[in-house]
Amino acid sequence: MQRAIELIQESHRPVVFTGAGMSSESGMRTFRGDDGLWREYSPEKLSSLQGLLADPGVVWEWYRMRFMKTAGIVPHIGYEALTWLQKKKKALPVITQNVDGLHLEAGQTDVLELHGSMRSVSCVKKCGYRTPLTDRLVETLPPVCPDCGAILKPDIVLFGEPLDHDTISRAYLLAEECDLMLVIGTSVQVWPAAGIPFTALESGARIIEINPARTELPRSERVVSIRRKAGEILPLLTGLSREIQ
Ligand code: OAD
Repeated sequence: MQRAIELIQESHRPVVFTGAGMSSESGMRTFRGDDGLWREYSPEKLSSLQGLLADPGVVWEWYRMRFMKTAGIVPHIGYEALTWLQKKKKALPVITQNVDGLHLEAGQTDVLELHGSMRSVSCVKKCGYRTPLTDRLVETLPPVCPDCGAILKPDIVLFGEPLDHDTISRAYLLAEECDLMLVIGTSVQVWPAAGIPFTALESGARIIEINPARTELPRSERVVSIRRKAGEILPLLTGLSREIQ
């Protein structure tokens, strides 16, 4: 722990990389592991464009459930700690695989949402229509595009869809250039996002991993693994706990 605190204090170009575990203490479920969403639901059916087009009503029920869940949650103290650290450091880009918008809600800036966001929807036919995802929009399912009549889809990256080119390119560039990466709450299994911490390591950066479970990241003297929850550890690591005492 002490080593991790020093690494953060000494770093000049730190970057944060998060996954679903970052939000679990806010009440969001992760995807893998014993209580993971993919144990209960099929990603091929519910999180693919093909699935949406084949069965829009059922797939939208699932999005509505996730949206309702997202709408009721707030960032936990671990998020506040990252916001606090971002203010202390000159720059602290946040690369996230999460679509719940909690980094932004916690007041963080320079957030790269690799897998998009649940906060808005757009037309599957890419006619240009886009609107916020609201309670009203999901009253009648599936929601359709008022301009062209096609189905609307949340602005998240579905399986089989490419990631936004500029966003993933910048994320990899940040990984190459950082001297420290905080890898928080991700199983590091879904590519191309999973390559980001490996790229940081290969480029000479150190890693602080915060995750109660072991992941694919190697055991190395350049990787400090803290097997605890994000909300418990981030306030201590960043110095926020001392500030609010
Ligand atoms: P996973 O569900 O694969 O992994 C979540 C990780 O968070 C696990 O390694 C847990 O041990 C860890 N974890 C759980 N609670 C935690 C806590 N309180 N603090 C810290 N860590 C905790 O989620 P991701 O790695 O984010 O893709 O999954 C990547 C992608 O797979 C998601 O973005 C999603 C999914 O399919 C799309 O939707 C495109």
